Amino acid sequence: MIRESKTIIISNRLPVKITEENGVYQLSPSEGGLATGLGSIYKEGNNIWIGWPGLEVPEERQEEVTKKLAELNLIPVFLSSEEINGYYEGFSNEILWPVFHYLVTYANFEQAYWDAYQDVNEKFKRAVTQHLSSGDKIWIHDYQLLLLPNLIREEQPSVTIGFFQHIPFPSFEIFRLIPWREEIIEGILGADLLGFHTFDDARHFISAASRLTSSNPSDNILIYKNRQIVVEAFPMGIDNDKFDRLTRDPKVAKFTVSIKNSLKNIKTILTIDRLDYSKGILQRLQALELLLEKHPEYLGKLALYMIVVPSRDTVPKYKELKDQIDQLVGNINARFRTISWLPVHYFYRSFSVEFLSAIYSAADICLVTPMRDGMNLVSKEYVASRLNEDGVLILSEMAGASKELNDALIVNPNNIGDMVKAMIQAINMPAEEQQIRMKSMRAMVSKFNIHLWVKNFMDKLREVKTMQESLHTK
Ligand code: F6P
Repeated sequence: MIRESKTIIISNRLPVKITEENGVYQLSPSEGGLATGLGSIYKEGNNIWIGWPGLEVPEERQEEVTKKLAELNLIPVFLSSEEINGYYEGFSNEILWPVFHYLVTYANFEQAYWDAYQDVNEKFKRAVTQHLSSGDKIWIHDYQLLLLPNLIREEQPSVTIGFFQHIPFPSFEIFRLIPWREEIIEGILGADLLGFHTFDDARHFISAASRLTSSNPSDNILIYKNRQIVVEAFPMGIDNDKFDRLTRDPKVAKFTVSIKNSLKNIKTILTIDRLDYSKGILQRLQALELLLEKHPEYLGKLALYMIVVPSRDTVPKYKELKDQIDQLVGNINARFRTISWLPVHYFYRSFSVEFLSAIYSAADICLVTPMRDGMNLVSKEYVASRLNEDGVLILSEMAGASKELNDALIVNPNNIGDMVKAMIQAINMPAEEQQIRMKSMRAMVSKFNIHLWVKNFMDKLREVKTMQESLHTK
């Protein structure tokens, strides 16, 4: 019997949420765009997705969880609490995350974190090689697994490996500050195709790789250890049809109307982020405070709906940020509110995708102002939810999405005055101008969706492998 080759997706987290209640493990599929986009791959045939189940599972229960996951083509990599602390919270989120988002002073360059990161990447490699057969294709995702491409390559020199980084890749002058920079670059260079959200990220990677190794760049191709490695921008899209469908759903539409009714004569500014210092949440609140202070004519006329989704709250900087946000929201509300009007409606929790769809449809303005962001899918979800082609998107020029959504009001999130101006412009934007801008952004988001992104990456991976093979046979 000829064994069919398969595709193996690998990411830090599996695309399911596992919870434990009264000693029973429950699985619920992830609603995320990546899980949807890659569903067309990992759910098919003998393809699989390898990753961490997202919680610590005691050894005696691991077999049971493994069996449940296998029914969904998912293979778990179990991590102990020490591994989660050193590899995930430590190296990934206290070193790579701040440095790659240009917040070097937030980084905690602990040797023990590096040791744990290497060990866990090794653990992922063992899980992959257990399932790997000749002819298989591998697609590795994100900054938690930067060493994995080369670890696999060392064992299987001819295997096909794609790697995509979902967060920015910083300029070399920032990247070089990491004590283990050569090892990281060497790890990534184990892949055949490297994908980033933007051309700038790709360029930064090529620059770091060519300075730190003896690899030679020729345009977007690096020649390293006799291999050709292609580096390209693949701007990620969203599941546009899902947001379109949700917005048209009668239950969601009814909910949208009730939100709108409760906000009559008030311009609603929506922000939705994971709790993260890279998202510019404090700066945005400062801009609102300045607007209300300098422009009292807007008192009682606008409201900020601010959804902050809990995230990484075991990492010290995230806990600190939560306290700062709580305090600033409290100050603004205490200073400007009236009996019948509240300037900031702050939610610290996650919501169903149906609720998000309704609030995207109800909000007059969406304010997306990260200090730095690989792409930012919230901006695209807002656009996809504007069936009537109205609404205004204010978008940070530091988000990858700003390279595509040129018709947003683009701001520098470090310039509080600039954000105030943009909010005033958005509040007063004529309907015709809103339509022109939104229409063009909707065409972009609908065309360059998550399915096209997956297709483009996989097509390119095949093309790169064919190019490499033809070079070797010459
Ligand atoms: O943006 C990068 C990313 O890793 C996403 O892939 C993920 O959804 C998000 O950050 C949250 O990450 P975590 O797994 O740390 O909760």
